[in-house]
Amino acid sequence: MSFHVAPATVADAEAIARVHVQGWRESYAGLLNPASLAGLSVEERTRMWRQNLAETDPGRLALVGRNREGEIVGFAAGGPVRSEGAEPLGTDAEIYAIYLLDQAKRRGLGRTLMAGLFGHFVGHGFASAGLWVLKDNEAARRFYETLGGLAGPEQELELCGQRVTEIVYRFEPIPVLA
Ligand SMILES: CC(C)(COP(=O)(O)OP(=O)(O)OC[C@H]1O[C@@H](n2cnc3c(N)ncnc32)[C@H](O)[C@@H]1OP(=O)(O)O)[C@@H](O)C(=O)NCCC(=O)NCCS
Repeated sequence: MSFHVAPATVADAEAIARVHVQGWRESYAGLLNPASLAGLSVEERTRMWRQNLAETDPGRLALVGRNREGEIVGFAAGGPVRSEGAEPLGTDAEIYAIYLLDQAKRRGLGRTLMAGLFGHFVGHGFASAGLWVLKDNEAARRFYETLGGLAGPEQELELCGQRVTEIVYRFEPIPVLA
C-alpha cells in the first residue's frame, strides 16, 4: 500500500478526528479501559482539531497520510515543546501525536510522518525532539527505538479515569530519516 503525505488543513479536522478516535480504540484496547474508549467523541475531537489546525505558529506542523482512495488513515503533529505535565520533556520540539489506523500500520507510513516532522523541526532550528508514550505501549516504543529515540524519565498521570505510566523518548540530535 502506498500513501500520500501532506500538511493538514482545517478542512481535514473531522477526518483526523475520526482516525484519532478509531486509532485510540484499535491501539489502546487492552491498555485503557473499554468504557472510556467507547465514549470518545469524534465531535469533541473535531472541535479540538479545528482549533489546533487554525493555529498560525510556524513551528507547528500537522501531517496527514492518505491511502490510494484519498482517505486519511494516519496523522502526526508536532511543534515547540509544551509545558504540560509535572515532568518536563527536556527537548526543544515535541511530537504531540501520531496515530495510524490498523489497516495502515507497518507499511512505512509512521516513519514517513516522523521524517516529515523531523525535517520541519530541523528547518525551524530545533536541536532536539521528544514525546511521551504509554509505558505499556510496546509497539510504539519499539518504533521510536528503531528511529533512534532514547528512553528517558517516567511520569504517572490520570488518563481515561485510570492511573497510567508514561515514558519519555528523546531524539537528540534530531535524526535525518531517509
Ligand atoms: C507506532 C506507529 C506510529 C508506527 O507506525 P507504522 O507505520 O506502523 O511503523 P513503520 O511501518 O513506519 O515502522 C518502521 C519500523 O519501526 C519498527 N516498528 C514499527 N511498529 C512496530 C511494532 N509493532 N513492533 C516492533 N517494531 C515496530 C520496525 O522496525 C519498523 O520497520 P519494519 O516494519 O521494516 O520492521 C503506528 O503503529 C501507530 O499509529 N500505532 C498506534 C498509535 C500509537 O501508539 N501512537 C503512539 C502514541 S505516543
